[in-house]
Amino acid sequence: MKAKFIVIEGIDGSGKSTQAAKVAKWLENFTGLKTISTFEPGGCDTCKKLREFILSSKNFSVMSELLLFLADRAEHVNKKILPELKAGHNVICERYNDSTLAYQSGGHNENLSLTKKLIDSCEFPEPDIKIFLDISPEIAFKRVQERKNLNDKFESEGLELMTRVANFYRSCSEKKNFIVINCDNLSIEETFRAIITELEAKI
Ligand code: TYD
Repeated sequence: MKAKFIVIEGIDGSGKSTQAAKVAKWLENFTGLKTISTFEPGGCDTCKKLREFILSSKNFSVMSELLLFLADRAEHVNKKILPELKAGHNVICERYNDSTLAYQSGGHNENLSLTKKLIDSCEFPEPDIKIFLDISPEIAFKRVQERKNLNDKFESEGLELMTRVANFYRSCSEKKNFIVINCDNLSIEETFRAIITELEAKI
């Protein structure tokens, strides 16, 4: 079986990290292939400094921010995602191209066709499967407030930004062929079961 590249998307507080860890464990068993779980921004050694830099800088224009996320992705793709896939390992990645579309364009109003063009011109590998954890921004925002002291600039912009980002994901998830899981009324375990039911049918 060919190694799979699976991306999990969703707003902050949607439960991506929890589900990525569970799905990685399940996928390793299901496929018999080593499976790694990673994330953006900051998913490889050379990206860590970029993550700190992007998330702690308050005064970038949206275009600079966008280019920094693409730089982070270029590092991550070349240093980690592609080598792991080539070694025959499955890769589960929290956030990828659709985060840039949803946050920089949907959330921060960067021109959508320009954002798409910039992403396309990077020619990053296409994921085999994309999962969107759809949760109401109010529930997610409450979770984020409880777990952090809102010290990164994206989260500190709050509910309004989350709502714009969620609306963007929702508007494009169908035509982009996402597996959409509505998590509002699901426990962690129920969300996980819903994801693997879909994955079993697709893999
Ligand atoms: P993340 O590490 O997923 O935050 P958390 O683990 O707290 O959910 O992402 C950090 C922030 O970076 C998040 O608010 C979304 C933002 N982001 C973008 O704006 N554009 C991007 O392309 C990516 C990958 C992330």
